Amino acid sequence: MTIPLLEARNVSKAFGGVHAVENVSMSIMPGEVVALLGHNGAGKSTFIKMLSGVFPADGGEILIDGKNVDIRSPHDAQELGIETIHQTLALADNLDAVSNLFLGRERTDRFGFLDVEAMEHGARQTIERMRLRIPSLDASVRSMSGGQRQAVAIARALHFNARILIMDEPTAALGPEETKNVGVLIDELKRHGLGILLISHDMHDVLTLSDRITVMKSGRVVGSFPTRDLTQDDALEMIILGRKPARFAATAV
Ligand SMILES: Nc1ncnc2c1ncn2[C@@H]1O[C@H](COP(=O)(O)OP(=O)(O)OP(=O)(O)O)[C@@H](O)[C@H]1O
Ligand SMILES: [Mg+2]
Repeated sequence: MTIPLLEARNVSKAFGGVHAVENVSMSIMPGEVVALLGHNGAGKSTFIKMLSGVFPADGGEILIDGKNVDIRSPHDAQELGIETIHQTLALADNLDAVSNLFLGRERTDRFGFLDVEAMEHGARQTIERMRLRIPSLDASVRSMSGGQRQAVAIARALHFNARILIMDEPTAALGPEETKNVGVLIDELKRHGLGILLISHDMHDVLTLSDRITVMKSGRVVGSFPTRDLTQDDALEMIILGRKPARFAATAV
């Protein structure tokens, strides 16, 4: 049996008296896209924030390649190969693609100066390797389309050897053509063995892009099933009613 790239075991987080995430367990295999679904306030963002080091978990374990890890900061998460693309993308609009790629992690030469050439070379390599469609490396990202900006944010995550990519609503701001490109890109990432955790409210995207669907409600996991085993109604039933479809009710997890 393959060891999961990432596994969470009974992870919990409370804010005061609110149990935002309670005993959540889930795993992502290499090359797998797991969609995390749930209504507003279900605990999705809180869960991924513990994976990306925004705040530590109150309890539970996180394992990478089967080994226990301690994620206390975004830096820890990145060192472990976990990169998060937030919904807002967090790009610096006035800077070009290369500067955005290395934002906060700039490369310097042995004299301490910015090594522009090395950064450009590195950016180009990542963009080609992942077949990203970024028209120009030196145009400010403000002038780019939603899909191109998305590509810059993804390039930034991938450049630093992400193995686990967390994408929060990657297609929410995109048109149909660009959404299709994100789909093509996700396929490419899968082929490179990355594990992807996808948060999306778009049921069509989720059904076409994911291999597995995990639904949360009120901080808990309702169920987790291979996408091909679920209909859209099944997924909605879990999201809205917080229970597994009757035909799965006896199944563990
Ligand atoms: N920093 C915080 N302080 C206090 N309560 C919080 C904090 N962050 C989240 N919560 C609470 O935790 C619960 C889960 O919120 P979370 O943001 O994880 O939900 P979500 O599934 O991401 O929802 P959405 O789909 O709206 O983004 C909610 O009840 C929310 O009010
Ligand atoms: Mg959220």
